[in-house]
Amino acid sequence: MTGAGSPVQPGGDGRRGQAAQRLAHLEVIEVTVEKLVMGGDGLARYEGIPIFVPRAVPGDRLRIRLTQRRPDYARAEIVEVLEAGPGRRQPPCEYFERCGGCDLQQIEDDLQPRLKAAAVVETLRRLGRLELPPPEVVAGEAWAYRLRAQLHAAAGAAGRPEVGYFARGSRTLVGVDRCPILVPELENALGDLAAGLPDEPPRRLDLAAGDAASWTMAPVVEGMPRGPVELVVGEHTLRYDARAFFQSHRGLLPRLVEAAVGSWRGDHAGDLYAGVGLFTLALAGRYRQVVAVESDPAAARYARINARRNNLEAIEILALRAETALARWPGPCDRLLVDPPRAGLSRQVRDGVLALRPERLTYVSCDPPTLARDLRQLTGAYRVESWTLLDLFPQTGHMEAVVQMVGAG
Ligand SMILES: C[S@@+](CC[C@H](N)C(=O)[O-])C[C@H]1O[C@@H](n2cnc3c(N)ncnc32)[C@H](O)[C@@H]1O
Repeated sequence: MTGAGSPVQPGGDGRRGQAAQRLAHLEVIEVTVEKLVMGGDGLARYEGIPIFVPRAVPGDRLRIRLTQRRPDYARAEIVEVLEAGPGRRQPPCEYFERCGGCDLQQIEDDLQPRLKAAAVVETLRRLGRLELPPPEVVAGEAWAYRLRAQLHAAAGAAGRPEVGYFARGSRTLVGVDRCPILVPELENALGDLAAGLPDEPPRRLDLAAGDAASWTMAPVVEGMPRGPVELVVGEHTLRYDARAFFQSHRGLLPRLVEAAVGSWRGDHAGDLYAGVGLFTLALAGRYRQVVAVESDPAAARYARINARRNNLEAIEILALRAETALARWPGPCDRLLVDPPRAGLSRQVRDGVLALRPERLTYVSCDPPTLARDLRQLTGAYRVESWTLLDLFPQTGHMEAVVQMVGAG
């Protein structure tokens, strides 16, 4: 270990406080990585103090440099892998070292979903005090899966625009001309994208792929594909564009719909945070009437188009915030599905769901900490029947959860 005096806030009294004081004077230390935590960092400890290390693998013996010290934890970067943990590999993508798009390429594909699932279970236990039955874990293609990309562009030094992702933890552009997690049509498009952009390009570019090698981009740039694309998922064709939300893993879309919608049937279903109607259309095959709520007017417009083009008449789309729609829900509801953004449910929505009290409640979440908070509030009235974790984001630290609940009686 090498010493380096740097400002620190030692944490509390006792052994932990003394350890924090010792850590304050260290710059480079050796640790063993215990496990992966939510978001994809490895967790190691220095005399009990948690240290979060990006791009680590459980079982790694590492020399790390401390980059941030807090009273109760620290962050670090890898200086050297002294001994590789099981499943460590050479990251396949040439840009991985600098690009902030992926977190887990150093871990074998098969191992990633298992490690991430364990991290989600622990997050729900720690933050939600929830002891759930073991989840079903579903994984699909680990590469060439991603239907959507959020890229950044800037005027390049050689007079040619540069396109890529931000570097990890910064807004520095890392130019890329390939990205192996994208579906092939987007990866091919990426290769030629920079050449088709004006000298002063839009700073953010959203790309989305459809079926039959189609793709589209927003904002509109002369000569680039624009407008909606179409994708068949199960029995339905969905239309969307690069600005509307759409789930990102092409191969797992049917599994996601199956896990969320299930095989229950009934009279009245609700779909809050409906996007362009991915779950709404599938619910309409099982319920007599479906009310879908989506606050983005453009996505709500696609949801209406998608309902009409799939000849599903028993769907009512409300272009409203979930908070507003719940306050004036148009009729009974036996089954409610919620799929909020990362922030989870607002207090108003949680209260509104509990007031509506559907018999069956499905929660689809891309953010385990807010899922934990919300389930804690909901599990007084609901019992978790089963849940599924789907690896919609291979090579990253994210995981999608689908939780099926029934009224606790
Ligand atoms: C995670 S996406 C889910 C979309 C859809 N369920 C799907 O799987 O394609 C969340 C959606 O909620 C919408 N949204 C965000 N805040 C909302 C709110 N307060 N009320 C209703 N919709 C909202 C977003 O525009 C986005 O389309």
